[in-house]
Amino acid sequence: MKSSVIANANIALVKYWGKRDDKLILPQNSNISMTTDGLFAHTTVEFDKKYDKDIFVLNGQTLDPSSGAYQEYVGQFLKIVREIAKDKTKAKIVSKNNFPTAAGLASSAAGFAALAASVNEALGMGLNEKQISMLARRGSGSATRSIYGGFVEWKKGKKPDGTDSYAEQIADEKFWPDFRLVVCVTSLKEKKIKSRAGMTQTLKTSPMYEGWLKSIDSDLSVVRKGILDRNFTEVGKTAEENCLKMHATMITTKPAIIYWNAQTINLMHSIMDWRDEGLESYFTMDAGPQVKIMCLEKNVKEIVKRVKAMGGVEQLIISKPGEGIKVTKDHLF
Ligand code: PMV
Repeated sequence: MKSSVIANANIALVKYWGKRDDKLILPQNSNISMTTDGLFAHTTVEFDKKYDKDIFVLNGQTLDPSSGAYQEYVGQFLKIVREIAKDKTKAKIVSKNNFPTAAGLASSAAGFAALAASVNEALGMGLNEKQISMLARRGSGSATRSIYGGFVEWKKGKKPDGTDSYAEQIADEKFWPDFRLVVCVTSLKEKKIKSRAGMTQTLKTSPMYEGWLKSIDSDLSVVRKGILDRNFTEVGKTAEENCLKMHATMITTKPAIIYWNAQTINLMHSIMDWRDEGLESYFTMDAGPQVKIMCLEKNVKEIVKRVKAMGGVEQLIISKPGEGIKVTKDHLF
């Protein structure tokens, strides 16, 4: 009844922004990500009669089960698990991330992928990877993709019940070994607007949202093919454009959602200048101010040197394509 899983975070190259079903967490558009090596969540779950209530400890802090944050995320997720598993036993969950939480670094992707996979083990639910991907989706959309390593697509699906909305691997973590993400953490603060609320507001109020959706299919096919051809220019360029389009929808909501800080913008300008000088790199940002620089291994050293010289970056993490979920015997309690 006790099980532990390690799941890597993933960073989207074609973003997921907006749901077609809020309850089932079904996306408006298919999306593509890279599972990262080195940014992970480690989760241990135990279901046991000795617990008279659920306990959730995240990064050393016990979350109050009556808090909104707990109920909307973990509480709701456990409810879904209990409905599927038909098991009411209470659980203790201990989870930790080795990178800043809720700061726009896909901590919920790693967290819910690890939680879905460890719950499946602990309760002996017998779900296969596709089913774990769909279960993780119910916790956080981006978690759907973290089940697999390498480059992954979350298919939006068409069915109202969501049974065709899950992730599929495009290429595994060994396929493109010199692809790198240099993650520049420009602020360690938790974001003010979670992606869930941000998406809802965007759908309701941004006049740009329709344009965003119209442009997705083309981005998906270019990035999919670019990955399979290992064509860095195509993937980097399209991922950067896609990120800017997503942020354009955020910026034009009412009230505006601007996740960037001054250093985010400095980095964007610098990366464009470096590119003009022949140092090929592209940027992507999610629901937060962190800048993830896409580049090839041969340019990492120079890029890191230049980022450090600029200052204003709290933490630098260099990541390559990483593995999917891994069951471990290393229990956290
Ligand atoms: O799954 P969520 O609610 O964490 O939303 C993820 C949204 C973005 O990170 C901005 C884009 C993405 O596809 O990961």
